[in-house]
Amino acid sequence: MKISVLLALLPLIQGLDFQSFDKSVLSRYSFFEQFSYKTLEESDWIASKSKKNNDESYVGKWSIEPPLKYPGIENDNGLVMKSGASHHAISRKFETVFENTNNDLVLQYEVKHQNGLTCGGGYIKLLNKDFEPENFSTSTPFQLMFGPDKCGENDQVKLILNRLNPITGEYEEKHVVDTSLTRSGPLSTLYTLILKKNHDFEIRVNGGVAKYGNLLDEGVLNPPLTPPKVIIDNSESKPLDWEELEFIPDESVTKPEDYDELYLNAFMPDPTVSKPEGWLDDEPQFIVDPFAEQPALWDEDEDGKWQPPIIPNPKCLPGCGKFNQPLIPNKNYKGPWIQPVVKNPHFIGEWTPKQIINPHYYEDNNPTNFEPIGGLGFDLWTIENDVLFDNIYLGHSIQEAETIGNETFKLKFDLESENYQQNKPKAIKGPSPPPKSFEEILNDDNTSTFQQVYLFFFLVFKRELLNMKDWWYDFNTDPLATVMNDPLRLVVYSGVFVFIFTLFFGTVSIVSFLITDWAKETKQAISTAQAELKKEDKEVPKIVELDDSDKPITTSSESSQSKPRRRH
Ligand SMILES: *[C@@H]1O[C@H](CO)[C@@H](O)[C@H](O)[C@H]1NC(C)=O
Ligand SMILES: *[C@@H]1O[C@H](CO)[C@@H](O)[C@H](O)[C@H]1NC(C)=O
Ligand SMILES: *[C@@H]1O[C@H](CO)[C@@H](O)[C@H](O)[C@H]1NC(C)=O
Repeated sequence: MKISVLLALLPLIQGLDFQSFDKSVLSRYSFFEQFSYKTLEESDWIASKSKKNNDESYVGKWSIEPPLKYPGIENDNGLVMKSGASHHAISRKFETVFENTNNDLVLQYEVKHQNGLTCGGGYIKLLNKDFEPENFSTSTPFQLMFGPDKCGENDQVKLILNRLNPITGEYEEKHVVDTSLTRSGPLSTLYTLILKKNHDFEIRVNGGVAKYGNLLDEGVLNPPLTPPKVIIDNSESKPLDWEELEFIPDESVTKPEDYDELYLNAFMPDPTVSKPEGWLDDEPQFIVDPFAEQPALWDEDEDGKWQPPIIPNPKCLPGCGKFNQPLIPNKNYKGPWIQPVVKNPHFIGEWTPKQIINPHYYEDNNPTNFEPIGGLGFDLWTIENDVLFDNIYLGHSIQEAETIGNETFKLKFDLESENYQQNKPKAIKGPSPPPKSFEEILNDDNTSTFQQVYLFFFLVFKRELLNMKDWWYDFNTDPLATVMNDPLRLVVYSGVFVFIFTLFFGTVSIVSFLITDWAKETKQAISTAQAELKKEDKEVPKIVELDDSDKPITTSSESSQSKPRRRH
């Protein structure tokens, strides 16, 4: 038990050297490519020399080499698309054509997007019998296309059947809709397609079923496998004299001349009210007071020109100006006049184009039957370089594909995963979230009041600092304009500068004063101590002297005062 675990771990510790898969276990109709060549030239693969449409050549380079990123098995070569942002095309012919009639078709291969996948294809094409590898291009007829294709949001494991319409002689691509997503990581991914002869299909990614269905079911393929039986005849258009309107305006009825006056308005002047007696149509409502006089004290220099006051016109007691009757609801109101309609005598009905039998109709009931397949190839555009392909299987057996998957891919994938775990790139710090607005901070229930206040002042300070930087930049570019534009800012900044300056030098002088003071005191203390010491030095012998001579001796008045004399 323990030994078997150790043996299983051995490749992880030691590194496992590449060993060819024993092809003899496969059916003689199966194709398997492991890329165990030393170079591309040594292999059966031929890069296309074709020019894509409009002289756009397939310039992308191909190589056969081991993986550069997170290798699994040592010396395990693959076919590598080397160039970034380029078109690549490469293919190889089978020794004998691959037939699939009333049989299962299984296609499986590995893709390793060593530099990840943001935009690029990784699909494989099964090509028609008589294709020429040198001339292989996007327009080369193929039978089936399968594999990852991603560009930004467009991300799918494509499955396309290219069906020949026997009537037109043209191919039409039938896409399986809503297929699964690609894997874009730097490790190998195993893509498997199973088309059963009963038309069930299965797409597996790393052995797990990612999409399945039946090709004959409605809505699985777009456009549908069998074209519609009846189509619209586009050669015909609506005749000019075709009458589609059932009702037309009745031209025999005309609008009555007095209609607007009688019926148009919801309100009308009250006819019972007439202009009062004495109403003056041409008299103004207000006049200049004819009796007013300029006051005696009016000074034109100081008070301006004198204007007589305006007063209501005394003649307008009954009324002046245009007389308007008051409005009352119009009992006959109907609104705008509407032309009546009559039935159109020439009415035929809605025109619909003629439906005809589709001349290109044919029934495709056997989408898993293919024309003989002459080989396979990759015809791809990619942004990321170093895309590695490996272990391509084409056959009729799910079991063979699984055996290959178990013995090649699974082993490799576990080693790659181990390698990745040990050497994966360090997480790059994501972008910081956008700064919060003051409102957001103040309304955030999750921050305490203290945090809010702190954050608020922090943000104000930060914003002002940025403003100041901007201002300083402007000031250096055009000082005069900057100052004129916002003189207050200069005052504020000068104030802040003076404040900080004062604060700084104030602090510096206080500190230096304290230091010098402290130094002085210390010095004084030291010298006092020294003096004391000296005195003591002198006094000691003096005491001895005193003892001898019995005479008090003092060296200084200070010491004689501070210290009691020694006596006998
Ligand atoms: C490729 O196509 C060209 C023109 O269609 C043809 O002349 C040439 O023989 C083809 N090359 C090969 C290798 O068949
Ligand atoms: C492949 O491996 C899986 C899981 O270990 C196993 O279930 C399956 O039977 C294997 N298939 C073949 C064909 O060996
Ligand atoms: C507060 O935190 C809870 C849970 O962490 C979250 O669901 C909620 O949205 C937060 N509220 C605000 C205003 O950010």
